[in-house]
Amino acid sequence: MTTNRTFTMIKPDAVANGHIGAIINDITAAGFKIIALKYTQLTPETAGKFYEVHKERPFYADLVSFMSSGPIIAAILEKDNAIEDFRTLIGATNPAEAAEGTIRRKYAKSIDANAVHGSDSNENAAIEGDFFFTAAERF
Ligand code: PPS
Repeated sequence: MTTNRTFTMIKPDAVANGHIGAIINDITAAGFKIIALKYTQLTPETAGKFYEVHKERPFYADLVSFMSSGPIIAAILEKDNAIEDFRTLIGATNPAEAAEGTIRRKYAKSIDANAVHGSDSNENAAIEGDFFFTAAERF
């Protein structure tokens, strides 16, 4: 299904390594419009809730710990075919397998600290956007 909105986070590794500006530039250069944007930090509790769908996976505790380890950027983005186009822009989950020129290939060093999140479905994009933003925070 074609969708026009997705949700992203610039993860703690990319923030700490000074890549916020470059990643936002790549995102807008690819045609995504910023609908909402926030600089914040997850707690272990809020990160655990956000990633609850993965709670049975072996890396869940590490993922929650990493995602609450420092500040992040959260954003809602708009573009035709947003979910699929954004996942193409960021590349494979493992940066070692991500295509040349993708955000994860350029700015991530490992699968557990892979620079950015991108929603995997229209339904999850809406849930994830609602997790971070009120209606008044969207433009
Ligand atoms: S995806 O993007 O949902 O298709 O990828 P998936 O493999 O299902 O991974 C879900 C999220 O878990 C992160 N991940 C990991 N974290 C730590 N260690 C390991 N080994 C690991 N493998 C995957 C992955 O980056 C996904 O996070 P998000 O924020 O959804 O990108």
